[in-house]
Amino acid sequence: MITKQTIDKIFSTIRVEEIVGEYVQLKRAGSNYKGLSPFHDEKTPSFVVSPSKQIWKDFSTGKGGTAISFLMEIENFTYPEALRHAAKKYGIEIEEDQREFSEEAKSAQTERDLLYKIHEVANNYFQETLWDSEEGKSIGLAYFKERELKDDIIKKFQLGYSPEKKNAFTEYALEKGYAKEILEKSGLSIFPENTPTGVDRFRERVIFPIHSFSGRVLGFGARILKNNVKTAKYLNSPETEIYHKSNVLYGLNQGKQAISRKNVCFLVEGYMDVISLHMSGIENVVASSGTSLTTEQIKLIKRLTENVTILFDGDNAGIKASFRSIDMLLTEGMNIRVLLFPEGDDPDSFARKHPQEYVEKFIENEAMDFIDFKAEILLKEAGSDPIKKAEAIRNIVKSVAFVQNALKREVYLKEVSNKFGLSEQSLFNELDVQKQMTQNQNQTVQQQKENKAPKLEIVPKPELEIDSVQFNILHQENRLIDLMLMFGDMVLQRKNENQEKYEVTVIEEILHHFEEEQYEFQIETNKKIIQNIQEGIENDELRAGNFFLTLMDEDITSKVADALLIPDELSDWTTRNIFPPSIGDHVDLEVTNDILIHKYYYIHYMIKQLTSEFESYRDTDPEKYFDSIKKIMMLNELSRKITEKLGWSPVTKSPIKF
Ligand code: UTP
Ligand code: MN
Repeated sequence: MITKQTIDKIFSTIRVEEIVGEYVQLKRAGSNYKGLSPFHDEKTPSFVVSPSKQIWKDFSTGKGGTAISFLMEIENFTYPEALRHAAKKYGIEIEEDQREFSEEAKSAQTERDLLYKIHEVANNYFQETLWDSEEGKSIGLAYFKERELKDDIIKKFQLGYSPEKKNAFTEYALEKGYAKEILEKSGLSIFPENTPTGVDRFRERVIFPIHSFSGRVLGFGARILKNNVKTAKYLNSPETEIYHKSNVLYGLNQGKQAISRKNVCFLVEGYMDVISLHMSGIENVVASSGTSLTTEQIKLIKRLTENVTILFDGDNAGIKASFRSIDMLLTEGMNIRVLLFPEGDDPDSFARKHPQEYVEKFIENEAMDFIDFKAEILLKEAGSDPIKKAEAIRNIVKSVAFVQNALKREVYLKEVSNKFGLSEQSLFNELDVQKQMTQNQNQTVQQQKENKAPKLEIVPKPELEIDSVQFNILHQENRLIDLMLMFGDMVLQRKNENQEKYEVTVIEEILHHFEEEQYEFQIETNKKIIQNIQEGIENDELRAGNFFLTLMDEDITSKVADALLIPDELSDWTTRNIFPPSIGDHVDLEVTNDILIHKYYYIHYMIKQLTSEFESYRDTDPEKYFDSIKKIMMLNELSRKITEKLGWSPVTKSPIKF
C-alpha cells in the first residue's frame, strides 16, 4: 500500500491541467480551462478544469474530481494504479506501507500489475537483445537498417528483437522470478504439456511494442524477417486483461500531441507506415493495425481531433472494405478525407521516397472528401453500365445517411447533386429511404435488446417521494457542508453573550452546530465528510476542501469538486455581464444565517416527525402523548424566535423561492 506521505506528495506535485491536457484539448477561459468532455459527445465545451483548485468538472455527465480521479475514469485505473501512473509521470518515488489488504483485492490488483510489469520486462528484454546481442544486431537491427530506419526512431518506438532460441524470453523471465501463470496469461509464453521449459510466442522476429494512450506497453506485434509464405507476416499478442485490440491504436501514444496540435489524424494500416511517417517528421498518425476500425478507436481519436485523413496503399485490395470505416467515422461525427497513394506505394514507401514537405503537400492536395473518393472507386468500377452507375450513387448517398448532423448532411447531398447532375429532391428521397433502412437495422437490434430484458413496470415508491420539509433540510444540510468545504479554514471574529471577542473557524462553528443539535445527517456522503472533519480535529488538523480531494471516495471527491467550483463558475458570469450575489464576500454572515436556516428546517423536520406519531399515543400512552404536544409547542416557539432573528416575514417564512 502506498504511504500517506507519498500520496500527499503526489497530490501536491501533479497538475490537473497537465494530466487532463493529455486527453482533452483545453482552452483558457478566464481563470479556468475548458474543453470538450471526454466522457460524452458534445459540440460545446462543458468540461472545466480549475488550475488554482486543482480539480475538474464535467458538466455534461456530472462527473468531477481530481487529476487522480480523472485518470481512474479515463484509463479505468484503480486508485493505486492512478497514483502510480501519476507518480511515474512526475518522477515521484513510491513508498510502500505494509498494511493488510484483503486477499482477493491483493490478487486482483497484483495480476493486472503483474501483466503490466511482465510487458515492461519483455519490452526491455527485446530492446536489449536488439541492441546488445550479436544475433540481435546482425539480424534484427540489420533488418531495420535495410528498411532505412534511423537509430533514434528505433528507440522512439522501442523496437526490439526476439531471438531464434525457442524459450529465450521464457527462460529469462522464469529466472527473474516471474511465474509460469502470468507468463501464460500475458501470451508471451506458451507451456504445452510435453515441453516443461515453455515456448516463446515470438521467435526470430522484430518486435513492435503496442502502447496505451498513456504509454504503457499492452502487447506486441512481431514481424518475420524472411518473406516465408508458411507463417503469418505479423504475429500479435492475444487479447489479455490489459490488451483489448479494439480499444488500442498503434502510434497514438507517440502521436497524440501532434494530432491535437495539427487538429487532424492520419489513419494508416501498418506499424511501418506509422514509423516511416514519424521519421519524415509527420507525427499525427495512427494505425488500426490490420483490424477494421472500431467505434472505441474512433472515440480515442475524437478526444484529440474531429478530422481524420485515411491514407491507403495504392494497390490496396481492401479499399472497398474501408467503406465500412468511412461509414463508422461519419456516424461518430468525424470529418473525413481519403488519400490513395500512387499504385505500388504505401505510406511507408512513399514517405521514404520523398522529402517531408513533399509528402505533406501531397496529402494536403490529393486527399479527397469521402464523396469524391467513393465516386472515383465505384464509378471506375461501373464503367459505362448505367445500372451500376445508379448503384454507385445510391452507395454514396448511403454514406451521407450516416452523417448525424443535418446541416452537414444537406451540404454533402448538394455536393452529390452537383457532381452527378441529379436533382436534389431525388437525392433527398433516396436519403430518406437509406436512413429508413439504417434505422430499421438499428431498431431490430434495439428490439432484440428489449426482448431480452425483462419489462420493467414503474411503480412510484412512496418513500422515494420527497416533501418540502425533507427537501429543505437536505438542501440546507448540503449548503452547510459546502461552506465547510469552501471556506473551512477561514477564521471568523465572533462575540459571545457577554460581548467578549473570540475567534473560530468556519469548520468549528458549523461542526459545533451539528453536534449541539445532535443532528442526524440525511446524506451518507455528508456524514462521511463530517466524520473525517471530526477525526481531523482530534488530530489537531483542519480538514477543509483540499484535504478531501486526496481521499479515495469518489462520491466525496466529486462533491468537493462541485463545492469548490461554484465560486469559479460564478466568477465567469461577470464576464457575460451577469452579476450573481458574490459568494464568499460575507462568509461570516452567511455562516450565521445558514446555521439558523438549517436549525429552522431541522425544527420543522422534528415537528413533522412528532406530529406524525403523537396521535397514536393518545390512548396507549397518555404521558408520551402530552410530552409530544409539549415538545411540538416548544419547537414552534423556537421556530418563531429563529424567524425573528433571520428577519423573515411571518407570512412567507422562507427565503427560498421555488
Ligand atoms: P500489411 O501487410 O500492409 O503490412 O499489413 P505492412 O504494415 O505494410 O508491413 P510491412 O511493410 O510488410 O512490414 C498491415 C498491418 O496489418 C497487420 C499489421 O498490424 C500490419 O502492420 N497484420 C498484417 C497482421 O497483424 N498480421 C499479418 O499477418 C499481416
Ligand atoms: Mn508496408
